[in-house]
Amino acid sequence: MQKTRWMSPRLALAGGLALLLGLLLGGCGFDGVQSTLEASGPVAERQAEIFMVTVWVSVGIFAVVGTFLAYCIWKFRYKGEVTPDTPLPDQGHGDALTEIGLILVSVFLVGVIALPTLKGIFWMWTVPEGEDVMEINVVGYQWWWRFEYPEYGVVTANELAMPVGRPVKFNLKTMDVIHAFWVPKLGGKMDLMPGQDNWLWLEAGGGTAGDLNRATWQVENGGVFYGQCAEFCGESHAFMRFRVVSLNDSDFRAWLEHQRSEAVPPATPEQTAGRDAFMKNQCAVCHTIRGVPGAAGLVGPDLTHFGSRLTVAAGIKDNTVENVKQWLTDPHAMKPGNTMYKAGYEAMNINLDQAAIDSLAEYLMSLK
Ligand code: CUA
Repeated sequence: MQKTRWMSPRLALAGGLALLLGLLLGGCGFDGVQSTLEASGPVAERQAEIFMVTVWVSVGIFAVVGTFLAYCIWKFRYKGEVTPDTPLPDQGHGDALTEIGLILVSVFLVGVIALPTLKGIFWMWTVPEGEDVMEINVVGYQWWWRFEYPEYGVVTANELAMPVGRPVKFNLKTMDVIHAFWVPKLGGKMDLMPGQDNWLWLEAGGGTAGDLNRATWQVENGGVFYGQCAEFCGESHAFMRFRVVSLNDSDFRAWLEHQRSEAVPPATPEQTAGRDAFMKNQCAVCHTIRGVPGAAGLVGPDLTHFGSRLTVAAGIKDNTVENVKQWLTDPHAMKPGNTMYKAGYEAMNINLDQAAIDSLAEYLMSLK
């Protein structure tokens, strides 16, 4: 009787552990788009190295302690049948020499982890000297990103370009709550704090994105990196993403030059209708399109070169006409609680009909 009573909880435990392990390993992958283990820049490499030191020390401790534990459980198990009258085994206090030895080993191992960690922290706190460091201002909003290039007068949103092999200092500010700037493959992360100016520096290594043709900006060639807000900041925190495109020097200069230019005027009647719909439906209250008189809003993303971006809705969807239409039709469904829906559609009672949505999408995508 007693045996069968013991079997089922053990089986349940084993089953539960197997399930948990399966779930945990299911999330594993060293080559995901946001894998910190596939480092593509010096900062990320350094951080991955320190992480691996910690992993190997921990694996070593686990192996030694686990082996001793298993050996002791096996060697000193009670061999008779256990009844309520079975006495406890002899109780001992332990061995002073062993305990002091274990403390010394622990202190040594903490040192093994702490030394490279502290060196790494100081290294990351210092922007490389003597190099041509570029500055990019990052401004967090619920739930999107503004990127400013103060030296060049360029403003963009949810997608930043940076030159390969050149350190970039990111100045971090928030317009509302705490966000965190994180590009897993390049390194990070750092909080955007209200009332406090934080910064971090990163450098994009690896391949380049080739030319400025969107079609060649592929994740596979290492030129496009995924970014993610890493601090819970409201209901659409998980949808606060962005992309980093690393470009070689001449491509980067061309990109800057292009981003600095004003928006192209509509080239077709459909695009003209889209620009008219943009002005008629109050979009310009929140959005800037440089080159369009009256479109100078600062609440939402700058749309001057919207069509040149890889994604729509802060990194959630590929930037295609279909997805832009979906976004304009029901932004709340794609990004719950977003400002365009709440302060725009809802508060200003904006109702876009299908014709307006179609022409708006055409126009926005033409803003390369
Ligand atoms: Cu912004 Cu989470």
